[in-house]
Amino acid sequence: LKKINIALDGFSSCGKSTLAKALANKLEYTYIDSGAMYRAVTLYFLRKGIIDGDDVQEDKIDEALSELWIDFFYNPETGKSETLLNEENVENEIREMEVSRNVSRVALIKKVRTRLIGIQQIQGQAKGVVMDGRDIGTNVFPDAELKIFMTADTDVRAQRRFEELTKKGASVTLEEIKANLADRDHQDTTRAENPLLQAEDAYVIDNTNLTQEQQFEMALGWSMEIINS
Ligand code: DC
Repeated sequence: LKKINIALDGFSSCGKSTLAKALANKLEYTYIDSGAMYRAVTLYFLRKGIIDGDDVQEDKIDEALSELWIDFFYNPETGKSETLLNEENVENEIREMEVSRNVSRVALIKKVRTRLIGIQQIQGQAKGVVMDGRDIGTNVFPDAELKIFMTADTDVRAQRRFEELTKKGASVTLEEIKANLADRDHQDTTRAENPLLQAEDAYVIDNTNLTQEQQFEMALGWSMEIINS
C-alpha cells in the first residue's frame, strides 16, 4: 500500500490532535504533534533563563537550539506517544500553564521555526506521517498528498475546552477561555513567520456540528482515495 503524508492544520482547540491520532492509529502511521515541539523548545528556554519575564535573550538562542533534540516515543504504560526533550520525557511539563503562556512568543521566532521545520521534514521523509499544527500543509509538507484544514465556531470551541478543563478540575470561566482562544487565534493568524493559513489545496472540515466519528469518516475516506489512487 502506498504511504502518504497527511497535514492537519487549524485553529487552537479544534480537535486536530484527536482526529490526527485516530487517523494515524487506523492507517498504522506515525502521529506527530508539532505543537508539542514548540512547547518543548519553550520549556527549554524557560529552564535556561532565555525567556526571562517579558524578555527573550536573543543572543542565546543559537546555542540553545544547537543543543536540543526533540523526539517522540510510544509509551506502552499510557498507550500514548510522548514528547522527549534531549531524551527526557517532558510530556506532562509541556502542557503546564507556564509553557502555555509563553509558547506563542517562542513560535514567533524565525530561528526556532527554521530549526523545528527542519526536524519535522526529516520526520516526514519516509512518509506514513500524520502531523498536526498550524503551518504543516503550507510550509512543512507543501507536497503532502492530503491536507486538511480544521475549523469550528469560536463559541463551540470555547465550550468544548471549558468542559475539558473543568472535568480535569481546573477553575476557569467560559469568558476567560473565549478571551484566550480569541487571543491565540489572533497571534496564530497575524504573525509574520508562517502564520496559520489554509492551503489552497486543503480539504476543509468545519466541525461545529460534526461528531468525532463523522470527522474521522470524512478524513479516512479522503485518505483511502489517495492511497488507492
Ligand atoms: O497546538 P498547540 O496549542 O499545542 O500549539 C502550541 C503553540 O505552538 C501555539 O501557540 C501555536 C504554535 N504552533 C505553531 O506556531 N506552529 C505549529 N506547526 C504548531 C504549533
